[in-house]
Amino acid sequence: MPQPRNILVTSALPYANGSLHLGHVLEYIQTDIWARFQRARGHHCLYMCADDAHGTAIMLKAEQLGLTPEQHIANMQAEHERDFADFLIGVDNYHSTHSEENRELSAMIYRRLQENGHIDSRTITQAFDPEKQLFLADRYIKGTCPRCSTPDQYGDNCEACGATYSPTELIDPVSAISGATPVEKESEHFFFTLPAFTNFLREWTRSGTLQDEMANKLAEWLDEGLQEWDISRDAPYFGFEIPDAPGKYFYVWLDAPIGYMASLKNYCDKNGLDWQEYWKKDSTAEVYHFIGKDIVNFHALFWPAMLDSADFRTPTKVCVHGFLTVNGKKMSKSRGTFINARNYLDHLNPEYLRYYFAAKLTGGVDDLDLNLDDFIARVNSDLVGKVVNIASRTAKFVGKGGGVLVEQLADEKLWQQFVDAEPRIADFYENREYARAMREIMALADAANAWIADKAPWSLAKDESKAEEVLAICSQGVNMFRALITWLAPVLPQTAEKAAQFLNSELKWATATTPLANHSIGEFKPLMQRVEKTQVDAVMEAAKESLAQLQAETKPVSGPLAEDPIAPEIQFDDFAKVDLRIALIAKAEHVEGAGKLLKLTLDLGGETRQVFSGIKSAYKPEDLQGKLTVMVANLAPRKMRFGISEGMVLAAGPGGKDLWLLEPHPGAVPGMRVM
Ligand code: 2FM
Ligand code: ZN
Repeated sequence: MPQPRNILVTSALPYANGSLHLGHVLEYIQTDIWARFQRARGHHCLYMCADDAHGTAIMLKAEQLGLTPEQHIANMQAEHERDFADFLIGVDNYHSTHSEENRELSAMIYRRLQENGHIDSRTITQAFDPEKQLFLADRYIKGTCPRCSTPDQYGDNCEACGATYSPTELIDPVSAISGATPVEKESEHFFFTLPAFTNFLREWTRSGTLQDEMANKLAEWLDEGLQEWDISRDAPYFGFEIPDAPGKYFYVWLDAPIGYMASLKNYCDKNGLDWQEYWKKDSTAEVYHFIGKDIVNFHALFWPAMLDSADFRTPTKVCVHGFLTVNGKKMSKSRGTFINARNYLDHLNPEYLRYYFAAKLTGGVDDLDLNLDDFIARVNSDLVGKVVNIASRTAKFVGKGGGVLVEQLADEKLWQQFVDAEPRIADFYENREYARAMREIMALADAANAWIADKAPWSLAKDESKAEEVLAICSQGVNMFRALITWLAPVLPQTAEKAAQFLNSELKWATATTPLANHSIGEFKPLMQRVEKTQVDAVMEAAKESLAQLQAETKPVSGPLAEDPIAPEIQFDDFAKVDLRIALIAKAEHVEGAGKLLKLTLDLGGETRQVFSGIKSAYKPEDLQGKLTVMVANLAPRKMRFGISEGMVLAAGPGGKDLWLLEPHPGAVPGMRVM
């Protein structure tokens, strides 16, 4: 038995700004399987997570929703925690970066950086929104491309021609938040002197902390030369004010990774433990961060450098994974393949996805594809058809034979295959090669099933004189199932729990290959249902619906929060399905609690419709009444937070104040078809 290790594991902290999607879930499942595996092996392993609650985007979103940032992040955190629990992600603590622990630790670490001469300050010039009184990050500025003249391009590159430029070069730049023309404004910023850590990072990134492909990527950045990192933002900003710098806040990415420590501190304080045992310089504990490849610079450059300066230990490993694709394509809102955690959970068992991801996850950074047909096939064939099948075909004969597993193995050689596989399976888990672990387990399941089919206990059972033989075969069958489900327990915790009940035995990694002998088992009950295609279809339908709802509720007509603004090409037939009608705005009213919506009562010439429309920033209700406009009359009614919306009115413009309802020729009459 190896010495028990003390391990701290984390997943990237999700922004408290939106629902979790299956891309997030991939990472949490990867992390959770690893943490459960470590615990199964007798190690002490804490899995910490939290919401990443700071930043401009969260502040603006709260405003859009008519909430305070605190209310907004509290709602998001509750939703995220439910999703975690329902995907069986066994975090030991779920905290928030907007917490007292994080405020203290961030201030402490910043002080240490300062004392060590690693904080510089200087005045910089930035775009400023004079209306919102807010400095604008590049992604909040848009304008016409200076090279190809395409309007409505964001930040520092043009989607149409690929040109890169500074936002100041945009023609007619406007703030994407208010529509105002940005002005240049100076302010003092604080910088972390990252270049001072170049040599340290060169060594650190090559010391077994990263996969080779990531270490190579970082070596490129290190060769290009590091830049000082701007860690301050001006008010208004939702975050922590920097000590002794009124009106200056820590940039969200400064306090986000400190959130890992803060969540641990919060946990340790509640459980009589010392968080510093994990983070002090000579700690013997191990720290593993699981992250996606898009945030490797924050975790493998800024974070270790900060830790080093602040006299803390650095992570043992940063485990990077690739992105999730759905049916071979990037998850996309316009293609309807953007699946929220809840869309899945409303229709399918979380263990199906846990297994599917496990069956495809490697220790590398390649993208992982969720192919929906393959998902159905693999879950049904491997879990239901192979693993559970072993128990269901043998347990009932054990029951008939008295319910007690016999001492003697029917086939020692076959059992030895299981014994030999165990260390390989453990190694695969340890190295996050879950796909290989699953393959190993399924190969054993195949061997077990073939052996059982060959012995055909169901035929032997017809002959009473063979009762002993039947019991011996089926006892081994049940024991093989027990070993397999013990090894699958990190992936399928719920099924393993049910199996433990029927086996009348705790499932322990250390004793998985010690057969239960002279042991009475309980009654076998079905452990898992097959996945049906209709359930998967329901998930995809739900994904489309929640997307439409989200867009209707909160999406600015355009702006940095509008994802996938370009709709895919459609055929004429698709267009012909849209029933556009002239509508008379009979009534327009404010909606209590809605930041952007007006409630419109539309007259279609005999028929009335209620429509919620995100045009509040552009129109006063009293100015709208009596106007004609154009609506989509055959849009399926949508349940929104404030009621049912029965259609949609058409508007154009960049958003905010600049938004115009389409006004037809005065000769048009309500109900008239538009084409
Ligand atoms: O990329 C993201 O979603 C960030 N919220 C991850 C933060 S990880 C850690 F540093 F907090
Ligand atoms: Zn261009």
